[in-house]
Amino acid sequence: MKEIKVFAPASVANVSCAFDILGFALNDIGDVLTFRKTKEPGVKIIMKNEQQLSEDPEKNVAGVVALAMLTMAGVDFGVEMEIEKGVSPGSGMGSSASSAAGAAFGMNHLLGGVFSMQQLVKFSMIGESLASGVEHADNAAPSLMGGIILVRSLNPLDVISLPVPENLYVTLIHPDVEVQTKKARLLLKQTVPLSDAVIQWGNIAGLISGFYSNDYSLIGRSLEDVIIEPARALLIPLFEALKAAALSAGALGSGISGSGPSVFALSEGKETAEKVAKAFREIYEPSGIEFKIHVSTVNKNGTHLI
Ligand code: HSE
Repeated sequence: MKEIKVFAPASVANVSCAFDILGFALNDIGDVLTFRKTKEPGVKIIMKNEQQLSEDPEKNVAGVVALAMLTMAGVDFGVEMEIEKGVSPGSGMGSSASSAAGAAFGMNHLLGGVFSMQQLVKFSMIGESLASGVEHADNAAPSLMGGIILVRSLNPLDVISLPVPENLYVTLIHPDVEVQTKKARLLLKQTVPLSDAVIQWGNIAGLISGFYSNDYSLIGRSLEDVIIEPARALLIPLFEALKAAALSAGALGSGISGSGPSVFALSEGKETAEKVAKAFREIYEPSGIEFKIHVSTVNKNGTHLI
């Protein structure tokens, strides 16, 4: 084996109401990581296209994951990791998680598959913690495992794969403004009024029931976030207009992707998802802000060799 290449997909975390506990993987957008074993111990990082990210393994999300895995496995070789970012940092599409998940998956392959999927999620969280200051798995777990993932608990780690309704489509707009998760987390209050908590957990339960029962109307009714979104919406230019446009175009619901600035909408069927894409474009084009729009199904494969 000279080298291996891994694709680790972007992801949408929170899914409106389920802050830090729910996320799903996207198709086509992702990081590509190439791994080569080296005789010298340690980790060498080569960033292919994102020069603002550090190549110092201790300051790079993929680097800290690889270092932790080498140490845990107790092997005498090292690794060279070439990272081609497909997910822009600060985009709200789980950029750090893609690199962390890719590193965990690729390293496990080099190490002969000694670690379980749960352990790989744990290792990825080391990278997430470096990036955002807090361990969370709602991007890393879906990026690794694919599909829609519920992170029921971090300690002990308990991640559950939920069913993906067959005709569920995602439309995502990525405005070209950067939001750092670390900063977006500092905006959040540490306490929640009980009345808001009741609305929120009703919505989370509704959303998950909707995934199990293929009930698109229930999914739509549950895509409401009364706790996090009001605090973060100000970071995203034209957020309310995007949401309103998505609903008028027939989306089930819409919200902030992760900590933003990307905004996602869920729709039943590709045709509606494309209409939402057009509606998003009409809102953003006059603004002069650069943007990209993606239409995707939920990626069920997660991180894999290419
Ligand atoms: N759950 C995280 C947050 C996802 O909203 O801060 C972003 O990494």
